[in-house]
Amino acid sequence: MPQSFPKTPRRSVHVHLLPDLVDRDRMQGHAATVIDVLRATTTMATALAAGAVRIRPCLHVQEARDQAASMPGSLLGGERGGLRVDGFDLGNSPAEYTPERVAGKTIVMTTTNGTRAIEHCGKAARVWTSAFVNLTASVNAWIACDFVELHIVCAGTDGVVTREDTLLAGALTAKIVELERETSLNDEAQIALATWRSPVESGEDLGELLSQSLGGRNLARIGQASDIARAAQIDLQPVLPEYCTDRGEVRLM
Ligand code: MLT
Repeated sequence: MPQSFPKTPRRSVHVHLLPDLVDRDRMQGHAATVIDVLRATTTMATALAAGAVRIRPCLHVQEARDQAASMPGSLLGGERGGLRVDGFDLGNSPAEYTPERVAGKTIVMTTTNGTRAIEHCGKAARVWTSAFVNLTASVNAWIACDFVELHIVCAGTDGVVTREDTLLAGALTAKIVELERETSLNDEAQIALATWRSPVESGEDLGELLSQSLGGRNLARIGQASDIARAAQIDLQPVLPEYCTDRGEVRLM
């Protein structure tokens, strides 16, 4: 009698170019990673690498104000229209999140699209955030875990698919298939992969690509284009921000 071995299910990567393109329940029991390259997830990695203890993502400005009021010593951070909200301590520029400013602190944060995308993944079994600045840490988190499905959820901008988030979804997918060749990909993952591979293979500069994206153009319009070069620095902050759904906070585990 031939011996039968339990079959290991084939692992798969599912890119969603906007949060609304995946149902929350669909992520139940699976791993998810959230992307908002310009700038929420870049800023979160920067803040935690600078020594912030936790980030509490909030959907609304008033909710953030209330949470901060109940946590003495916390800092309020985030944006509306890309700009710091009136009365907040910090905006959404990673450059503001220095060790001098944030080490040892809780940051209550609300951004237009990024914190919303994180909240959308609240039913996944494990959630972390990805940016180019923590690209390898994010890939390694997937390689080291046993989940069968990874959902890569792009924040986009106000319901519109963005090139900057699609580029990172493609970069993550490219690294994953390099390490696990058998990985199956949904169509959005294949689109993201092509978006990443064709300019990169022809030698285009990542900072330049991000500048041309919707998020990049928006930052240039409000005079914050200097954040683009920082967001393009691959593995500048090799940390893994994880979203603990039970506590409603993002922290390094
Ligand atoms: C967002 O969450 O919409 C972005 O992070 C916006 C920004 O960086 O200003």
